[in-house]
Amino acid sequence: MGTIYAIANQKGGVGKTTTCVNLAASLAATKKQVLLVDLDPQGNATMGSGVDKNDLEYSIYDVLMGLTRPENAYCTSPDGHYTVLPANGDLTAAEVEMLPLENKEYRLKSALSAAKEQFDYVLIDCPPSLNMLTVNGLTACDGVLIPMQCEYYALEGLSALVNTINTIQSVLNPKLKIEGILRTMYDPRNSLTGDVSQQLHSHFGDRLYRTCVPRNVRLAEAPSFGMPVIAYDKQSKGALAYIALAGEILRRNEASTLELATA
Ligand SMILES: Nc1ncnc2c1ncn2[C@@H]1O[C@H](COP(=O)(O)OP(=O)(O)OP(=O)(O)O)[C@@H](O)[C@H]1O
Ligand SMILES: [Mg+2]
Repeated sequence: MGTIYAIANQKGGVGKTTTCVNLAASLAATKKQVLLVDLDPQGNATMGSGVDKNDLEYSIYDVLMGLTRPENAYCTSPDGHYTVLPANGDLTAAEVEMLPLENKEYRLKSALSAAKEQFDYVLIDCPPSLNMLTVNGLTACDGVLIPMQCEYYALEGLSALVNTINTIQSVLNPKLKIEGILRTMYDPRNSLTGDVSQQLHSHFGDRLYRTCVPRNVRLAEAPSFGMPVIAYDKQSKGALAYIALAGEILRRNEASTLELATA
C-alpha cells in the first residue's frame, strides 16, 4: 500500500510545487512508482513535469466532478519518469461546483483509492489557500509536508496551517499528521534563517527535515524546460538537496515500518 503526502502551505511562493515535482522525480529515480497529483488550478506542477496543461483530454477537474476515472487522466512526465494527474484553469470551477455535491471533502480521497494500491508514493501539490481543494488534499493524505521559507512571518502563517490540520484531523481524517517541515530557499548567511530554524526545531523536533533546500537558480530554471532539476542539471545544489530529501523520507518510512513490524 502506498503513502500519500499533501504538500501544503497557504502562503504563496514558498516552494510547494518545486518540492512536489523534484521529490516526485527523486523518488522515481530510486525505482519507486510515483503519482503526482496537481491540485492547483495554476497547473504549475503539470507544466513543470513536462505535461502541457492546455492540451489535456481529461484533468483532475473531471476526476473530482466524477466525470471520468483517474486512470483516464493520467499522463507521464517524460523526463521525471512518474505519473501525473494534471490540472489546469478548469479546476477553478470545481471549487464552487463541488460545494453542493455529496461528500465534497472526500472526493479526492475516493478518487485515489486505487492509486494507493498502484503507487508507492502519491504527492499532492496543493494551491496557496485553505480552500475546498486543499481540504480535499488534506483529507486524502496520510501526512502533510510543509515547505517554508525561514522568514519572520512564516511562523505566523504556520500556526494557521497547523490549526487547519488539527481541525481536519479531528473532523475528516483522524490519521492526518504533519509528516515534515522542509526549509526551502535556504540561505545560511541570513541571520534570521538561524533564529527561525532554531524555533522550528524546538517546536517540531525531528519532524523538521534535516535536509534544507538552498536557493539555487537551476531549480528556478528547470520548470521552463518542463523538467525536474535532476534531469536538467543533476549536479546542481538543488538536485542534490531533493535527492537527499527523498533519501531522508525513504529512511524515515523504512524505520517506521520496522517499528510497526516489531511492535
Ligand atoms: N530553492 C529554490 N531556489 C530558487 N528558486 C526557487 C526555489 N524554490 C522555488 N523557487 C522558485 O520560486 C518560485 C516559487 O516556487 P514554487 O512555485 O515552487 O512555490 P509554490 O509554493 O508552489 O507557489 P504557489 O503558492 O504560487 O503555488 C518559482 O519561481 C520557483 O522556481
Ligand atoms: Mg505551486
